Amino acid sequence: MNLPNLNDARTRTKSPTIIKRDEYQVPATIKEIGKNKYYCIYTYGCQMNVHDSENISAIMEDMSYTKCDDMDQADVIILNTCAIRENAHNKVMGMLGRVKHLRETKNDIITIFCGCMAQEETIAKELKDKYSWVDIVMGTHNIHKLPEYLEKAINTKKQDIEVFSIEGEVYEGIPVKRDSKYKAWVNIMYGCDKFCTYCIVPYTRGKQRSRKPEDIINEVKELVQEGYQEVTLLGQNVNAYGKDLNIDYTMANLLEDVAKTNISRVRFVTSHPWDFTLDMIEIIAKYDNIMPYIHLPLQSGSSKILKKMGRRYTKEEYKKLFYQIKEMIPNCSITTDIIVGFPGETEEDFHDTIDLVNELKYDLAYTFIYSPREGTPASVMEDNTSLEEKKQRLATLNELINKYALFNNQKYLHKTVPVLIEGPSDKDNKLMGYTDTMKLVNIKADEKYLGKIVNVKITDVKTWSMDGEVIND
Ligand code: 5AD
Ligand code: SF4
Repeated sequence: MNLPNLNDARTRTKSPTIIKRDEYQVPATIKEIGKNKYYCIYTYGCQMNVHDSENISAIMEDMSYTKCDDMDQADVIILNTCAIRENAHNKVMGMLGRVKHLRETKNDIITIFCGCMAQEETIAKELKDKYSWVDIVMGTHNIHKLPEYLEKAINTKKQDIEVFSIEGEVYEGIPVKRDSKYKAWVNIMYGCDKFCTYCIVPYTRGKQRSRKPEDIINEVKELVQEGYQEVTLLGQNVNAYGKDLNIDYTMANLLEDVAKTNISRVRFVTSHPWDFTLDMIEIIAKYDNIMPYIHLPLQSGSSKILKKMGRRYTKEEYKKLFYQIKEMIPNCSITTDIIVGFPGETEEDFHDTIDLVNELKYDLAYTFIYSPREGTPASVMEDNTSLEEKKQRLATLNELINKYALFNNQKYLHKTVPVLIEGPSDKDNKLMGYTDTMKLVNIKADEKYLGKIVNVKITDVKTWSMDGEVIND
């Protein structure tokens, strides 16, 4: 048993990232342990978690388990959790209640609790004290050990908590079962060293560790061979890529090398304005296969609040970067994240955010009410704004964000744009895909277009999506 420790999770050493290549194995004794058995996996949170679930699925299938969508049918239930805000936490706890209920009639189910919540000291302790029926609690740093933990759980039927808070490794060679045949997530780095004062990620995901450039490029080359059209390079703060590797190689270099693999589309998330260099903007502008779309989290339009958030930029510096991107990358769409109700945010600070949104007119924004996370500096800052007031600010902001989303989409009406057709749409018998600028388009089109990048004429625009028709054959 290994329980997480908040103080260890805070620690950062200067030791270089260690790449480990032979850690993942499935012992012969358990290769068939999942024959005629099913697993289901519930994933909460960001793309990093979505991609971790693709790894976990492949590991389960390496042990002969079959995936199912329904927890009633499953022999193993996996909750891959998110800790970023209180509501993500509440959803997971609600689901845990459902699993408990199911176990009352089917007590041989194995329950696995993993992801960011497992890395939280108080949650792991709560699982130990109050949820001893949860078989495996596993952190974000040791997914590759799942076969070992599962074998032990099946044999002993005793709870095992394996969460580590100190780490400096990158594990290569973990299998992946991708959800899509056309677009793939590719990790370029793990963890984050920025320690924005509201954010739990540096504690749950640990120290920044970059993968080696050649490992990333080889993975992308393989994806090209397999017919993938799009890769999204993934990290909590991708612009800081390479800084921990002691090599003279940056995110700009990586973007260029990935573009040179000739994959049709390259995307990347998430960027921190602090590390966004001019070199990067130049490379994005230079290569047609690096998409003109950037997610650039603002968090607040008030320099005072940005300082309290530990974001390391002022409103003016952010604006300068924003305009540089817009100027150097024609038609680039920019989306953002904004938090309202951070401790100490006054009406005036909130208006700074509103003014900035009015000026920059984002293509889209993900907006949140600040949620205190235990152990983070912001969670002990004085906060005098009522929840009622914060909800009002969120509603005001969302109205504005929606207005500009529609305003930006309207520029697409009757234009022809490239769309990668990905799969069925929720809307009446249509297919869906994204433009190069990351606009969601619903299209009445033949299935033969699946997995292809086609020219689509936009026939109608809404706030969150557009309708279109294929114009070439
Ligand atoms: N409360 C509210 N929103 C948060 N985010 C991160 N931590 C918190 C928090 N404690 C938001 C930020 C980040 C996005 C992924 O989630 O806007 O960019
Ligand atoms: Fe959290 Fe800031 Fe790191 Fe993003 S850059 S993961 S907001 S600490």
